[in-house]
Amino acid sequence: MACKKQKSKLMAFSLAMVVVVVLLLGRCRGDVVQFIFGDSLSDVGNNDYLTKSLARAALPWYGIDFDTGMPNGRFCNGRTVADIVGDKMGLPRPPAFLDPSLDENVILKRGVNFASGGGGILNETSSLFIQRFSLYKQIELFQGTQEFMRRKVGKAAADKLFGEAYYVVAMGANDFINNYLLPVYSDSWTYNGDAFVRYMVTTLEAQLRLLHALGARRLTFFGLGPMGCIPLQRILTSSGACQEPTNALARSFNDQAGAAVARLSSSLANATFRFGEAYDYFQDIIDRPAAHGFNNSRAPCCSLGRVRPTLTCTPLSTLCKDRSQYVFWDEYHPTDRANELIALETLRKLNITVSAANSTST
Ligand SMILES: *[C@@H]1O[C@H](CO)[C@@H](O)[C@H](O)[C@H]1NC(C)=O
Ligand SMILES: *[C@@H]1O[C@H](CO)[C@@H](O)[C@H](O)[C@H]1NC(C)=O
Ligand SMILES: *[C@@H]1O[C@H](CO)[C@@H](O)[C@H](O)[C@H]1NC(C)=O
Ligand SMILES: *[C@@H]1O[C@H](CO)[C@@H](O)[C@H](O)[C@H]1NC(C)=O
Ligand SMILES: *[C@@H]1O[C@H](CO)[C@@H](O)[C@H](O)[C@H]1NC(C)=O
Repeated sequence: MACKKQKSKLMAFSLAMVVVVVLLLGRCRGDVVQFIFGDSLSDVGNNDYLTKSLARAALPWYGIDFDTGMPNGRFCNGRTVADIVGDKMGLPRPPAFLDPSLDENVILKRGVNFASGGGGILNETSSLFIQRFSLYKQIELFQGTQEFMRRKVGKAAADKLFGEAYYVVAMGANDFINNYLLPVYSDSWTYNGDAFVRYMVTTLEAQLRLLHALGARRLTFFGLGPMGCIPLQRILTSSGACQEPTNALARSFNDQAGAAVARLSSSLANATFRFGEAYDYFQDIIDRPAAHGFNNSRAPCCSLGRVRPTLTCTPLSTLCKDRSQYVFWDEYHPTDRANELIALETLRKLNITVSAANSTST
């Protein structure tokens, strides 16, 4: 009798072990990957291969605090918000779509990043940059990637990959900064602020529906920060203050895009679409830098001193003394340290808790 009881205990124990091992294998095989769509805030090298693009991070001092310290296509000294959010969720970092080493094995293990500096929700955004992937173009490239994977690994494995993946879409700042707010673009005289935001959100909603139709089930859209406070916008005001009308556009976009994402999440089959943002927190960092460990939230760390704005950080620029004390790296983009704080706040607001092992739960 005692023996039989022992045996069944043992069996229950073994069964539990098998379950644990199967779960661990599922995780360790790394078959949950990310597909990232975005602009320069998420670009990890696509624009380096768009040789005619005027928005590239191919020269020093971009990348100075990343890996080898050489430029890697990120418009930052270090990591992007998407890098950090993915790391914290235990997901591998996907390579750039145009990276020549990309093949079916890399895609199975790491996914793909389609983000492109200058890219916007609207096709017409950033036409002055000559070359960039707009969101529709990025989705078109994603469709090509799906066809490629079905050919290489078969429909079942490809459908599993695309159905289980995490999708990140982080777009919208360029539609304002490099379209609506510049008088050379016809959108700036065709629309008022409200109508333009509605046009953007209607377009975005169609794009997110399209991604769902293509198999995306778990998707996070990252909202905008206080883009009227980027150094490039501040230098336009005589006092160096943030451009409040520009910030109001970002808030209006966030409100409407957040509502659209929630609508889609509750209406599309099996969709978990979430809206991630850290607008108020980022504004607080800008307003009270010292409270968050920064010394400067106004000027870019990398700049040509008095020759501002110079749009990009160049090898001739000088760097601030302590890059971890600056909120902004160049005229547009936050530093690695600011991105880290923004990523942590975004995860906190999404109710994604990060354990010591960086595993996820919601
Ligand atoms: C957890 O995150 C830290 C910092 O973001 C990173 O250095 C580390 O490699 C991650 N660990 C795992 C197991 O992903
Ligand atoms: C936007 O561009 C895509 C190609 O990248 C094209 O298929 C689509 O028709 C365009 N949409 C509009 C509204 O121009
Ligand atoms: C939703 O999930 C269920 C259960 O996994 C599945 O049977 C169904 O086909 C899914 N529907 C769509 C549209 O993905
Ligand atoms: C940055 O440091 C300098 C020198 O220590 C100090 O005068 C200045 O007030 C600091 N600025 C902020 C925003 O903390
Ligand atoms: C996170 O949790 C809080 C409190 O339970 C809830 O109010 C909020 O809607 C949640 N946010 C998301 C994005 O799920």
